[in-house]
Amino acid sequence: MFWILWFFIAFVVVLVAFTLRKESEDMPRRDILRAVESTGKMGVAERSFLWVFSWLDTRFRLQDYWNMSKGAYYNMHRQMPLTHAEKYKLRIIWYWYPLYCLGGISFLSFIILVITGTVLGIYYVPGGEGDPAPAYASMQYIMTELPFGYILRAVHHWATHFMVASVFLHMCRVYFTGAYRNPRELNWLIGVALMFLTIFFGYSGYLLPWDSLAYGAAVIGINMANSSPLIGKFAATALFSGTSLTPGTVTRMYFIHVFILPVIVTLLIIIHLFIVWVQGIAEPH
Ligand code: HEM
Repeated sequence: MFWILWFFIAFVVVLVAFTLRKESEDMPRRDILRAVESTGKMGVAERSFLWVFSWLDTRFRLQDYWNMSKGAYYNMHRQMPLTHAEKYKLRIIWYWYPLYCLGGISFLSFIILVITGTVLGIYYVPGGEGDPAPAYASMQYIMTELPFGYILRAVHHWATHFMVASVFLHMCRVYFTGAYRNPRELNWLIGVALMFLTIFFGYSGYLLPWDSLAYGAAVIGINMANSSPLIGKFAATALFSGTSLTPGTVTRMYFIHVFILPVIVTLLIIIHLFIVWVQGIAEPH
């Protein structure tokens, strides 16, 4: 079987030789190589360095990528305007504008939720059938037997509270500094969607332990869905897997909580932050 390997090596050697020959014929090196050839006064070290550099550059386009990343770096920094306080050299309590971190805190909470949620998902069982339901039994396991399980759940729980609060306060900050105005209307609308999705995220997670608290919340939710005009039955079936609560409700909420919402919210956050990056932070009006 080794002949295949030798054949392959020979093939690669011929290919490389052919490429090198083609290169020396049709691909004149860049300015840098011309500089090497036209100067006779360079020492061996410089010549070797330039030769190696031009060899790498013709293959990996080092100069192009270097210039591109330099361009990106300067663009990024051009997009970051001075804060109001920096611009007017204000040395007052507002100097750090802490309220401008609230969006960042929402983002940080989301990251913590994704990480802790992923670990919880390893132990959680999304089944509502039986007494106790597997969902409830798995929560009991996480709380009483899994090492650090109760801490994991508590971090997930409190990060949710942080996220809901900071998203709401972030929205207030954007409103009171007038940052929702032209040209940031679209980001405001994406933000509104993000706020509702964040609340729904919290609600869908609240049902997952399938304890009496979750059951009570599910009764309220399904009644609200059923009583919405025209689309009531459809909404209840889509969200709760039926027009009345069944064991399937937990499984449906689990799918919404760990797949549908994370995908939508992650995409919207990426777009939201991309727009902030492109437009820069608004100065207070
Ligand atoms: C998951 C939720 C959200 C995340 C992770 C998020 C993240 C961010 C971040 C990091 C910024 C940069 C400035 C700052 O931190 O204050 C920002 C700006 C902004 N956000 Fe959000 N945001 C969220 C929800 C919202 C909501 C609910 C609204 C409004 C309804 C909103 C509207 C805006 C607007 C208009 C800006 C531009 C503000 C400016 O230029 O000063 N965002 N967002």
